[in-house]
Amino acid sequence: MNALTFRLLEVFQRVVDLGSITAASTSLSLSQPTVSLQLKKLSSQIGMPLIEQHQGSIIMTDAGHAVYRCAQEVLTAHARLNSQIAALQGVEVGSLKLAVVTTAKYVIPPLLSEFCRAHPNIEINFTVGNRAQIIQRLTDNKDDLYIFSQPPEDAELVCYPFAENKLQVVAPCNYSGPNNCQLADLAEEKFLLREPGSGTRRLVDQYCRQNGVILNKVMIVESNEAIRLSVASGLGLAILSQHTLANSRQDDLKTLDIKDFPLKSHWQVVTHKRRPISLAASAFRDSLIDAFNQPEKITK
Ligand code: PGA
Repeated sequence: MNALTFRLLEVFQRVVDLGSITAASTSLSLSQPTVSLQLKKLSSQIGMPLIEQHQGSIIMTDAGHAVYRCAQEVLTAHARLNSQIAALQGVEVGSLKLAVVTTAKYVIPPLLSEFCRAHPNIEINFTVGNRAQIIQRLTDNKDDLYIFSQPPEDAELVCYPFAENKLQVVAPCNYSGPNNCQLADLAEEKFLLREPGSGTRRLVDQYCRQNGVILNKVMIVESNEAIRLSVASGLGLAILSQHTLANSRQDDLKTLDIKDFPLKSHWQVVTHKRRPISLAASAFRDSLIDAFNQPEKITK
């Protein structure tokens, strides 16, 4: 059997499904003689008759039934292949605009670089800013995906949590002040805190407000990295995400044992309902959720 083509199988399937050569030829935009010719060709390639006409109806022979089953499998597989290829092309040639809060830059780059290796033709636009700056981008509809630990309250957001974010109280390694205590017991220590507008700062302020803690000596430093290095060189204490500590030498900093700490929140990958999610963005979102195994969706 040679030259058994998708087209021959499609014509045969259509004739059987519609019950007549006339209906099949209309539906395939072919002439009736062409459809009859294709049926003959298929039948001669198989080497057996495939249909019989009986009182105006089409009846399949046993060989016809076998060919019909084969046509269904082949054409379904072909359609599935086409849609998979279309989806892959959509991911491969798309673009991804991703905006993340500064602390998430410790979490996202390894996953983003893996994603870029798997999809080298996707154009990536990666923006980092504090929580307030990223909320502004979200309001201006600038990006496909956003990463927050505290997304703004907005019923139009779709948020998937994918990993934990833990804030720790850290001190220089030679620190000898209060430890194994409450945050209030550190009220007179000097704290290096992130700027208002930072999500980390927001969580700290929230905790202090809810627990009546006032930190009396606060110095604002607008960068996790600068805070970490300043604490290591003895400038004061800080409350930082555990992710920011991953690169520090073990003897640089000491994590204090403070009641209620670590403060926990969740990294969330966020989209806005008004912006249709591109295939590339949805593939990256899936890769984040898969990497941390947290499939539950939160719709605000
Ligand atoms: P930040 O955000 O980098 O602005 O502090 C961190 C967060 O939202 O937890």
